[in-house]
Amino acid sequence: MAQSYDELPYGDIAYFHTHPAHLGAIAVLCGLAPPALAGGRVLEVGCGTGFNLLAMSRSLPETQSLGLDASSTQIDRARALADEIGATNASFQVGRLEELDDSTGPFDAILAHGVYSWIPPAAQTALLELIRRRLAPNGLAYISFNAKPGWNARGVVRDFLIGAVPADGSPIDRARAARERLAAFVASLPDPDSPYGRQVASLAKSLADEPDYYLLHEYLAERNEALAFGEFAARLAAHGLQYVAESRFSTSAFTQLGADRTALDVVGDDLVRREQYHDYRWQRSLRQSIVCRADRAIPRVADAAAVGKLWLSPRVKLVDPNADVDATDFDEARREEDGEVVQIHDPFYRQFLRRLRAVPGRRLQPDAFLPDIRDYIGFEIGPEKSRHLLMQIVLKGTIEEVWHVYAEPTAYSAGVGDRPRACPLARRQASNGGAIVSRLHRIVRLDDAERARLARLDGRTDRATLAAEFGIGNDDLERFAAMALLEG
Ligand SMILES: C[S@@+](CC[C@H](N)C(=O)[O-])C[C@H]1O[C@@H](n2cnc3c(N)ncnc32)[C@H](O)[C@@H]1O
Repeated sequence: MAQSYDELPYGDIAYFHTHPAHLGAIAVLCGLAPPALAGGRVLEVGCGTGFNLLAMSRSLPETQSLGLDASSTQIDRARALADEIGATNASFQVGRLEELDDSTGPFDAILAHGVYSWIPPAAQTALLELIRRRLAPNGLAYISFNAKPGWNARGVVRDFLIGAVPADGSPIDRARAARERLAAFVASLPDPDSPYGRQVASLAKSLADEPDYYLLHEYLAERNEALAFGEFAARLAAHGLQYVAESRFSTSAFTQLGADRTALDVVGDDLVRREQYHDYRWQRSLRQSIVCRADRAIPRVADAAAVGKLWLSPRVKLVDPNADVDATDFDEARREEDGEVVQIHDPFYRQFLRRLRAVPGRRLQPDAFLPDIRDYIGFEIGPEKSRHLLMQIVLKGTIEEVWHVYAEPTAYSAGVGDRPRACPLARRQASNGGAIVSRLHRIVRLDDAERARLARLDGRTDRATLAAEFGIGNDDLERFAAMALLEG
């Protein structure tokens, strides 16, 4: 398997839902103490080209990170990238996870994104054992895997491609053959309007936009096991581990509200059965699960004081930041991920988005809102009740994806220095056309002109020269700062 990654490495991408500060915040929302990341250690297993880990380690400068991957080509790339951006708190090791000895760690976070479903059973067992042995007592692990039943439908396309594409040939040739065979297959379907025809055509359409490495490693990989949640939970239990929540919190069964929560009652109170039933209702195809040691009690009721200390960073941006809050009963806001405009009705969310504009770094701790609770509900309540209400608002806003939550503030400059300096990784990506990751571990979309401006910010040119010679004005710089792309 490592050989195929040597021949066609995985892409340079970062995954927000693996970030340990985010995992810690979700743990807090479940009533757990988060691991301390300053002075702590992070391990990413199957780290590929190291991009995710490097972006993460720059945002957590006081955390030591180790990336492990069986593919030496990818680890060479990771090391070269670490040198290029001057990373001092991340190191990389070529090796099989089955062979990682106990001298490394313990780790406060162990991350395995895109690994578990794609390795043989013995390596899957070794991964869970590694987590059992090497996870610190209040550490968190992240494991993503292809889930049933959503992957069953995709599995049809995968099975077809495995049969249709010759096993020999270079990875690039195989990916090309896969695209051709799939297109011909869809065109030849006798009943394109049947549920089967539509399902295959829609999967083929979405695959057309995916890069070769994804097609190859997902659809033509030697192994790709989709699991029902119950099976995953049983395997965790057999290794002294347990499920905490989905890293994408809103997709956990136990965070559902209203009719979606009631629908689960048919399977009773058992958390595992409810999670699995939820997957079947929503035809889930991917889980990004947070895991901890089985000896920890998970209250799944948050501690209000701990929630008050989380950091919130908005996922939506007001369309008209100067609009009068009293003029309408909702605000229009643009969603970060797809640019879609949504209506925001909740008065607290509206206050939050307004207040953020004046806050350097555009992130806030819920405690900052304690004095506002009276205005929110219209009458006085005691401090304990205020905290409790605030905690419920934070939970709701996280589930409704109004903000991202972090257990610790990630490192970036809230303001613009005299000689503005962009994060080296972002600058590099701005020049080479790759995905740009902020210090909030979010993918940031910039157009070509913005990329060129960001790439200029190497900390050597003063603001007056940037404006006069390169047309980079204060507005541009403030915007980059607000996007968490600057170091100074
Ligand atoms: C699908 S890729 C995912 C890469 C990266 N985590 C991502 O999601 O972008 C799986 C990675 O696991 C690595 N891998 C597979 N088996 C492994 C093993 N037994 N020990 C360590 N790494 C392994 C592969 O080399 C590959 O880089």
